[in-house]
Amino acid sequence: MNYSQILQQKKMSADEAANFIKNGEIIGASGFTPAGHPKVVPTAIAQKGELEREAGREFKVTLYTGASTGDELDGALARGKVLKKRMPYQSNASLRSEINSGATEYADYHLSQLAQNLRYGFMDKVTTALVEACDVTDDGKVYLTMSNGNSPTYLQMADQIIIEYNQSVPQELKEMHDNYIPLDPPHRREIPIYSAGDRIGSPYVQVDPQKIKGIVWTDKKDAAAPFREPGEVEKKIAENVVDFLLHEEKKGRLPKGLPYQSGVGNIANAVLSQFATLPGISNVTLFTEVMQDAFFWIHEADRLNFCSTSALTFSAEGNEKFVKDIEIFKKKIMLRPQEISNHPELIRRLGLISMNAALEMDIFGNVNSTNVLGSKMMNGIGGSGDFCRNAYLSIFMCPSTSKGGAISNIVPMVTHVDHNEHSVEILVTEQGIADLRGLSPVNKAKKVISNLAHPDYRDYLSEYLSYGLEHAPSRHIPHVLGRAFELHQRFIETGSMKLS
Ligand code: COA
Repeated sequence: MNYSQILQQKKMSADEAANFIKNGEIIGASGFTPAGHPKVVPTAIAQKGELEREAGREFKVTLYTGASTGDELDGALARGKVLKKRMPYQSNASLRSEINSGATEYADYHLSQLAQNLRYGFMDKVTTALVEACDVTDDGKVYLTMSNGNSPTYLQMADQIIIEYNQSVPQELKEMHDNYIPLDPPHRREIPIYSAGDRIGSPYVQVDPQKIKGIVWTDKKDAAAPFREPGEVEKKIAENVVDFLLHEEKKGRLPKGLPYQSGVGNIANAVLSQFATLPGISNVTLFTEVMQDAFFWIHEADRLNFCSTSALTFSAEGNEKFVKDIEIFKKKIMLRPQEISNHPELIRRLGLISMNAALEMDIFGNVNSTNVLGSKMMNGIGGSGDFCRNAYLSIFMCPSTSKGGAISNIVPMVTHVDHNEHSVEILVTEQGIADLRGLSPVNKAKKVISNLAHPDYRDYLSEYLSYGLEHAPSRHIPHVLGRAFELHQRFIETGSMKLS
C-alpha cells in the first residue's frame, strides 16, 4: 500500500496523541455498537487522567459517540474515572456502573438527533474529534471504518482531529460509506433517498488537514461479543413476528418489499436470524442502524436484497466472513451517518417495518427499553424511538418473563416510559402477538394480558384490570396508582414478582 504523506508525517504514539486532550475536552468519537471506535488512544487518555489526578489536577472529559462502543473506549475511560459526561447510547458494563453510581452524567438521546442538535448549538460543542479511519489523504479526505455514526459531524465541527489509522480493516470499506450531512433549517431540503441503496453523498469526510494533530497507527480489530444461539423463546418470538407479517400481507395491508429495521441485542439478532429459515420471507431489504451476524444467515439463505446501515457489528467469525466475501458485500451494503439511517423522514417515506426489543411493556401499550425498575440504566434508547414513532409498522418484542420467570415483562404500568401508547402498535412475546392499532386502553389491556402475558402472571394482571375497572377514578385508563407497581415492589422485597 502507498501511504499518503499525511499518514506518515503526522504519525505519533497514543500517548503523544492523548496529550492533545485537556481537562474539560468535549470529544466526539467514532464508534457505533462495538464497531469502528478508536481502540488505543482512549487508554492513553485514561492513563493521562490518572497522572493528572496524582498531580492534584482535575481531569475529566465529555464523550459523545455514535452509540455503544467497544471496551477499549467506553470501558477504558469509565475505569479510568475520567468521564464527566457521556452521550448517547452505551452498553459497556464498566460505564453502566459509573452511570448508575452517579459518577458519570449520562444524557440518553435519540440517535438521529444528536448530530443535528450539536450543529444547532443546543449542547456543548465538540472540541476534539477522535475517529478511526482506514485512510487519510493529504488533502484531508478521511475514510471511516466499520461504522459511520456521527463521525462526519464530529470531524467537521471539531477544533482538532486525532485519527486512529486502522490497518486491519479492508480498504474496500472506502467504497461502502455514503457521507451526507443535511443542511440545517431553514435551508434543509428533502433527503433524496428513495430506496435503501441510493447513494447521495461522498465516500469520505472532507476535513481541513491542518486540524489533524496526530495519526496513531493500529491494527486492532473490532470484537463484538458472539451472540448466544437463539433459544426456544426467541425462536417462538420470531415465528410470531413472521406469522403476523404474513397475515398482514394476506390482508393486503403490507406491500411486498418494505425495508426492515432490526434493533440491537440478543433478541433482535435472534429474530432476524430466523428470517433466513422461516417460510414466506424472501428478498429482504434492510434499512437499519446496526447490522449484526444475522446478516450472514440471511445472505447465505439467498434472501438478502440490500442492507443500508450505520454500523457493521460482527462477531470475530462474522468479520472473517465479511473480509472473505467483501467483493460481494460491497455491492450489498451501504454505511450511512446515523442521522440518515435513523432519519424520521426516511423511515416514514420508505415505510419501514421496525422490530426492537423491550425490557418491559405495560398492559396499556407503553414500553420501557432502558431503565430497570424505573431507575437503573441498562443501555439507552438508541434508535428505537426514531424507528418506533415513524415506521410503517412498529413491533416491540420481549420474552414474557425474565430471570427464570421471577420477572414478568408484562406489567400493569411500566416503571419508565420510552415509547408511549400513542406510538406503540404491535407487541410480541413468545406467548403471542397483540395488535394494538386503533384500540381503546381497556381493549389494549385485555389483548395484552390474554395474548402476551406468561400464564404465571395472567391471573394477577386480569385481576388488576378488573379491580381498576371497579375502583379507578376513571374507566378510560383504569389505573389504581397505589397498586400499579405491586409486581415491582414484590420483586424488590422478595426477589420475585410471583405471588407464591
Ligand atoms: N427487568 C429486569 N431485567 C430485565 C428485564 C426486566 N423487565 N427484561 C430483560 N432484563 C434483563 C435480562 O434478564 C438480561 O439480563 P442478563 O444479561 O443479566 O441475563 C438483559 O436484561 C438483556 O436482556 P436480553 O433478553 O438478553 O435482551 P437483549 O440483549 O435483546 O437486550 C434490550 C434487550 C432492551 C436491553 C436492548 O434491546 C436495548 O438496549 N434496547 C434499547 C435500544 C434499542 O432498542 N435500540 C434499537 C435500535 S437499533
